[in-house]
Amino acid sequence: MPIQIMLGDITEVDADAWVNAANPSLLGGSGVDGAIHKAAGGELVNACYMFKELQPGIRCPPGIARITPGFKARVKWIIHTVGPVWHGGNKGEAETLANCYRNSFQLAQQHNVQSIVFPAISCGVYGFPWAQAAEIALREAKVEVAARKDQLKVTFCCFAEEIYKIYRAAHEIA
Ligand code: APR
Repeated sequence: MPIQIMLGDITEVDADAWVNAANPSLLGGSGVDGAIHKAAGGELVNACYMFKELQPGIRCPPGIARITPGFKARVKWIIHTVGPVWHGGNKGEAETLANCYRNSFQLAQQHNVQSIVFPAISCGVYGFPWAQAAEIALREAKVEVAARKDQLKVTFCCFAEEIYKIYRAAHEIA
């Protein structure tokens, strides 16, 4: 199956690339961001510093993605994307989240990534409603899998049972 949903810790999943749910500084944080930085080691934050600041403290605006090596992590690449903070749904949150997936997939293709693992971007401290986030994630993954001529494997790694069930349901509907 080109698209899989799993329950677990992304840093234990083998793939060519993980996607990190980062913040605009790209310098690490809590949640999955903290786990990925811990797995990759201190070289990752040094690599992230190298991205040009577009405004003070902003190396990656919401919806955009950047790529670094995986360093000590078990993946070759880490794609960092910044999800939208949920402000009620009228601030372009859905489109920004879709752009996170589209821009991550674009970098994946440019770097010959054949297997990619996503966390539930924006579904933690950024507060995006889970069902809508899952629908967007699955929709964009299906578009990408259909568009790519090679065999891309996309995994959504959910950290807790409740969100895992929601992603599973979205997969069946999409
Ligand atoms: N593996 C997989 N998923 C994880 C892991 C992990 N090790 N740790 C947390 N998660 C899950 C959370 O349970 C949530 O479902 O990832 C999802 C995204 O949650 P957050 O990490 O809070 O990401 P997000 O909502 O996009 O907020 C981004 O959090 O830490 C900061 O620097 C980050 O400021 C940014 C913000």
